[in-house]
Amino acid sequence: MSPLHVTRTLPEDATDAALRADVRYGLTADPKTLPPKWFYDARGSDLFERITELPEYYPTRAEREILLARAGEIAAASGARTLIELGSGSSEKTRHLIDALTSLAAYVPVDVSESALTQAGRALIAERPGLEVHALIADFTAPLALPRTPGPRLVAFLGGTIGNLLPAERAEFLALVRSQLAPGDGLLLGTDLVKDEGVLVRAYDDAAGVTAAFNKNVLAVVNRELGADFEPDAFDHVARWDPEREWIEMRLRARTAQTVKVPALDLAVDFAAGEELRTEVSAKFRRDGIAAELAAAGLELTHWWTDAEDRFALSLSVLR
Ligand SMILES: C[S@@+](CC[C@H](N)C(=O)[O-])C[C@H]1O[C@@H](n2cnc3c(N)ncnc32)[C@H](O)[C@@H]1O
Repeated sequence: MSPLHVTRTLPEDATDAALRADVRYGLTADPKTLPPKWFYDARGSDLFERITELPEYYPTRAEREILLARAGEIAAASGARTLIELGSGSSEKTRHLIDALTSLAAYVPVDVSESALTQAGRALIAERPGLEVHALIADFTAPLALPRTPGPRLVAFLGGTIGNLLPAERAEFLALVRSQLAPGDGLLLGTDLVKDEGVLVRAYDDAAGVTAAFNKNVLAVVNRELGADFEPDAFDHVARWDPEREWIEMRLRARTAQTVKVPALDLAVDFAAGEELRTEVSAKFRRDGIAAELAAAGLELTHWWTDAEDRFALSLSVLR
């Protein structure tokens, strides 16, 4: 069995500096915001895995359905020898793809969550002896220090995570991905599709309250890392559909007027009663829109697959 290679491409203090910068910027902005990547400490990653099993959260099941049906076609079209997965989390669904990629030599999962990466990486090398697994603890919005592995490469970005980037960030991100591909390489992109508002809102506001706990976990991360005194119970979880921008917003709404101290930043943040802090957007897509965004980054969408209920799409763009 090959060993699990884990590379931290950012030093610990860079992560710390990034968190500080994001929290200072976001909590002093109007309206207040925090970026979603800070949900994912070990508890946040576990909560996300529980979300994927909820009856209301259809995206994981829909994407798995497509992967199960289409993995052979994806493998044939990409011929990938290296699979790079951005925001890989548990790599759960990716196993279907790994099994279909018969010439695969290396799997490179990339995530900010060290716990998710090491758990998934260990399980994979045990299940698939012979597969090289190079786990990268890295932020996928920055250039990646990829290991030397054979091409062609297939970059997979699953789970609809691209929807967590704002439109300008998405354009930058796609251009960055494109710049790291060579002719013959491909991008396999999972996008959640625009659909009935009730179905969308329920997916982000489940009856068991798991998504609410996930949303509030970002406050626990800021408390632990920066010594803040957020009281998670003083905030309500809010999931709202924005029909113009076609995205879901997750927010945390202050129940009462309160001041939160963030000692590591020497910051005191006032919340008015009812004031909302935006913690995530999750954009939903249409085929034409995502094809145009890919084209703007120099990528041509060559394949488009959806689940039987047209809830979710996987697209493949291969660089010519
Ligand atoms: C919505 S989850 C999807 C997980 C998995 N791909 C799936 O489809 O179930 C997003 C994943 O991306 C990771 N992530 C979020 N922002 C990131 C960033 N900027 N850089 C690297 N990983 C990030 C999270 O830790 C999490 O594992």
